[in-house]
Amino acid sequence: MNYNKLSRDEELLAGIQTPAYVYDETVLLADAGMAGAALSEAKAHLLFAMKSFSSAHGLARLVDHVDGFHASSLFEAKLAREILGQNGQIHVTTPALIPDEFDELCQITDMLSFNSLTQWDRYKSQISGKVRCSLRINPGLSFIKDERYDPCRRHSKLGVPIADVHNVMIHDPDRLEGITGLLVHSNSDSDDFRELLTTVNHLDRLLGPLLSKLKWIDLGGGYLFYDPGKLEPLRETVSILRSKYGLEVYMEPGASISRRAGNLVATVLDIFSSDGKSVVILDASVNHIPEVFEFQDEPDVRGDIKIAGHRYILAGATCLAGDVFGEYDFAEPLQPGSKVVFENIGAYSTVKAHMFNGVNLPSIYCRRADGTYDLKKRFTYQEFKTHLGRE
Ligand SMILES: Cc1ncc(COP(=O)(O)O)c(C=O)c1O
Repeated sequence: MNYNKLSRDEELLAGIQTPAYVYDETVLLADAGMAGAALSEAKAHLLFAMKSFSSAHGLARLVDHVDGFHASSLFEAKLAREILGQNGQIHVTTPALIPDEFDELCQITDMLSFNSLTQWDRYKSQISGKVRCSLRINPGLSFIKDERYDPCRRHSKLGVPIADVHNVMIHDPDRLEGITGLLVHSNSDSDDFRELLTTVNHLDRLLGPLLSKLKWIDLGGGYLFYDPGKLEPLRETVSILRSKYGLEVYMEPGASISRRAGNLVATVLDIFSSDGKSVVILDASVNHIPEVFEFQDEPDVRGDIKIAGHRYILAGATCLAGDVFGEYDFAEPLQPGSKVVFENIGAYSTVKAHMFNGVNLPSIYCRRADGTYDLKKRFTYQEFKTHLGRE
């Protein structure tokens, strides 16, 4: 490695042990700040959906920038409470409430959204603590083309269909006694807040009498807050809910806060030719960015010039033939020891990664505001074997 040719940032990067997730604290806080500013201007509260990124140090950095965390299980809720202390709210929703965990969940949670009417019927007599209850509803308006992400797909398992809520509101309102809020999460990676406005107008038309009895509504995640020029429909949405129904409004974005902060840094281990193309074997795997494989996304790579250059298939470290990130062009040739940086992978990577083939999980580093790298976590053989049931 010729250090004379490296910038200070590359030099520091060269010093980290790979594979490594690097989350950039400045970007994380800036993106939390963008979501926070948009929501506070609209007069709504910001919860961070920790399902997208739960590295404990990152969550701890977010505490002062959010009103709380959204969790999807008892384990997430417990971690959220440990990190928040009593300084923030925890909102939980899951299609799978576990009977043995319910009481503990109620002690930790501030807002619990039931996923179905039957889930609500089953648990409402067991509610304890200060938890406020809501129903997750499925508004039945789809904005997502890929139905694997779409909570409003046909026969969805996520939320009570709006027609059923309407029916109960009219014919059996006592069944909703104890419900003080609603949760609607129905989008993914959209920066078009007109879709949110359309959704809320739909609720307004169908569920007005119920909304006027409630205290709060959580409009979910699935929206990106990056463009200040696109926020007017968000303000209008919140304004309808506040002025017409006096509702306290929450949103719980994940990716909008965590995605751009995260990079995966890998080292080139081997390069060879296969049927006329150059294949690079990295010490990382698509199992470290599982959505690459699940959804056949091609992650962004730093230095990808996107025009014919030194072209490589970047492949992962495992035995799976499809453990491949994609094909990329670089201005300079790669060689064993070169670093490859996958960018904008901060959402849904660390939380879904696994150790298939015994390939270790990437270490976790924080890139501080001064550009230095702080090692937060290195995974060990001990953790690998404990996970597999050997002490
Ligand atoms: C209920 C709920 N809230 C929030 C989110 C976060 O969504 P995103 O990361 O797309 O903002 C999700 C994602 O699946 C979700 O299911």
